[in-house]
Amino acid sequence: MIEILLTALWLMLPAYIPNSTAAVFGGGRPLDGGKTLKDGRRILGDGKTFRGLIAGTVCGMLLGLLQMYYMSRQTTIFGIELPSFGAMPGALLVIFALAFGALLGDLSMSFFKRRLGLKRGAPLPGVDQLDFVLGAWVLTYIVAPSWFTANFTFYVALAVILVTPLLHVSTNIVGYFIGVKKEPW
Ligand code: CTP
Ligand code: MG
Repeated sequence: MIEILLTALWLMLPAYIPNSTAAVFGGGRPLDGGKTLKDGRRILGDGKTFRGLIAGTVCGMLLGLLQMYYMSRQTTIFGIELPSFGAMPGALLVIFALAFGALLGDLSMSFFKRRLGLKRGAPLPGVDQLDFVLGAWVLTYIVAPSWFTANFTFYVALAVILVTPLLHVSTNIVGYFIGVKKEPW
């Protein structure tokens, strides 16, 4: 149980960080350039910016590199064997895909939220908590299919799906109180 949970968290760390760092460092020019579609609504909205995308990817990858550094010295944590991102240079691609994919997942959901007429920041329960997991998984599967299937086994993936919403909700509440998020979701 604990081992599966720890494996899930360790593998997902580079995907967990991007959204919160995007909230901290984001802002400025929106990715959609302020454009609207025929439905009169923004393509993505002001909540998806270049700065957020870049800062989120960089921070997610930095954490992944720190994890790789840790694993180069020690292969366990709390006595539990850690999963690896693979050998270089493939590992770099994996952590990039986890970080960038998480942000892609989040911004593609913003696209659908705008089409549904939901304003920036409007909550979409379930989707808000898991869109970035799906994005991270899809991109990682595309760039490293065998690494993905070897590491995200059924139970590890299940642990991610069960634990992520809890983590997401709690970090967003923290983000709300420290003032980097406008809404607590
Ligand atoms: N952010 C950003 N760029 C991104 C993702 C997020 O700048 N690619 C920043 C924005 O300041 C955003 C905040 O992080 O407001 C929180 O992200 P999120 O909750 O995903 O955005 P929302 O403002 O809720 O917008 P949406 O309704 O589109 O999800
Ligand atoms: Mg939101």
